[in-house]
Amino acid sequence: MPSARSTLPSWQALIEHQRAVSGVRLRELFARDPARYRKFSLSFDGMIVDYSKQALTGETIRLLIALARECGLESWTKRLFAGERVNATENRAALHAALRAAAPVVLDGRDVARDVKDVLAAMGRLVRGVRTGRIKGATGRALTDVVNLGIGGSDLGPRLACEALGPFPGARPRLHFVSNVDGAAISSVLAALDPRATLFVIASKTFTTQETLANARAARAWLAAKLGGKAAASRHLCAVTAEPARAVAFGVPAERVLRIWDWVGGRYSLWSAVGLPIALAAGMKRFDELRAGARAMDEHFAGAPLERNLPVALGLLEVWNATFRGVASRAVVPYDERLRLLPAYLQQLEMESCGKHVSRGGEAVDYATAPVTWGSAGTDGQHAYFQLLHQGTAAVTADFIACCRPRHRLRGHHDLLLANFLAQTEALAFGMSGDEAAAAMRKQGLPEAEVRRLLPHRVFEGGRPTTSILLDDLSARALGALIALYEHKVFVQSVIWDVNAFDQWGVELGKRLADRILPELGASGPVSTHDSSTNGLINHIKAKR
Ligand code: F6P
Repeated sequence: MPSARSTLPSWQALIEHQRAVSGVRLRELFARDPARYRKFSLSFDGMIVDYSKQALTGETIRLLIALARECGLESWTKRLFAGERVNATENRAALHAALRAAAPVVLDGRDVARDVKDVLAAMGRLVRGVRTGRIKGATGRALTDVVNLGIGGSDLGPRLACEALGPFPGARPRLHFVSNVDGAAISSVLAALDPRATLFVIASKTFTTQETLANARAARAWLAAKLGGKAAASRHLCAVTAEPARAVAFGVPAERVLRIWDWVGGRYSLWSAVGLPIALAAGMKRFDELRAGARAMDEHFAGAPLERNLPVALGLLEVWNATFRGVASRAVVPYDERLRLLPAYLQQLEMESCGKHVSRGGEAVDYATAPVTWGSAGTDGQHAYFQLLHQGTAAVTADFIACCRPRHRLRGHHDLLLANFLAQTEALAFGMSGDEAAAAMRKQGLPEAEVRRLLPHRVFEGGRPTTSILLDDLSARALGALIALYEHKVFVQSVIWDVNAFDQWGVELGKRLADRILPELGASGPVSTHDSSTNGLINHIKAKR
């Protein structure tokens, strides 16, 4: 049985359209239409999204918008913001927009925006207490270092924002992040810290995550050993969780537990108390600016017509590339060192949200959904994987992101950075023809035989699509808007692909199997309860320890 989506008239029209335009080159499209940049770029609140270097025409956009309408995108968006239980497999709303809302948001008769405000007020008191030195550790020392213990959504967002909004020279407290259960991670962080001056934030929505709890136990033991017992240790703990009782049972003082709610997905949660490290590093004011930027993007997404709507444009483009053009790989390349962690953040946001093969109704879909998202900062990437982007056989699309103004004073560096940002998308789009490549080699004085020998290696076919996103500068507001842009982009995709963007059942099986293997690693004697590969590996490890 074909999937409901792929039988829609607009879906079928897009398949036809893709066949018709697949041979058209970007060079041709630009040559034909000098207004292409103006037609295929959108701006909002100090941000420009240019998708003119994507393989599309005006007809593509018209058909994608028709598809969005046929899939009910506008009504799904209303349902999302209204707090309907759009996360049907977990019977939950997905109200991340309520975390930054200025007006009441009612869920089951309760204004959850009010709850958010109350928790953020408590968070503000904690932040001010730590930043001013009023809140002290068990020995009376000010808390100069904070370690966030969390993973996935309880780590990536705060880590990204702290790095993007920094550096914070001379500011207190210094922030550290430990996510991996590899003991090397926490050991190296603890080695450089003074327990008397260190505060741990245990960030876990569920407060059951194996990695975070293992690190929290290690931190608690380190504190207790150095400070003289559990009571003193607990004065160096705080928690962010939807399960406050579990945090208190762990030993976190009740007044140091900040709440989040089951209607916030972990990967959508940095606007809540999960953002505590951001506020500790950058201050409450900048945390509020971050939320204000996201709120502005919410209002744009909810209110702008589909044709002028940034998250809609980006989401539909992803669908066009992944589903209709068969591009299963997408690079995220921020030309900004401060956004170095954006690819990792988007990896979770995009792949945990839309990496699904079953529709909301529980049927296997007959089309491609989320591509593999990956990437790293430019210009570093240019000296690593860009060879493949320019001349490889894999189809990849890429988001290039940069800021017009830097925060540093090295103007020459910024010009170099932006020149590379611009040059790479130009090269990917337009390439270099055989004639051009030969002419360049002749100009270098290469003999004709050498020109012929090298020519196939020196040709760039071009036609490799990219989207450019330019921010005026990386203010907290701009960062908030950028992250919310991607959150809503993902939602748009999920509506078109008819998948639930807010569950993540795919991570469960591995967790369950790890729980089963854990005692086997510690027990004596060989293991024979798994397949031959897993048994072999377990027994090899046991023999080596
Ligand atoms: O395993 C995936 C996941 O559930 C993510 O969705 C989540 O962000 C992460 O683990 C951490 O979960 P928690 O905040 O409950 O510790």
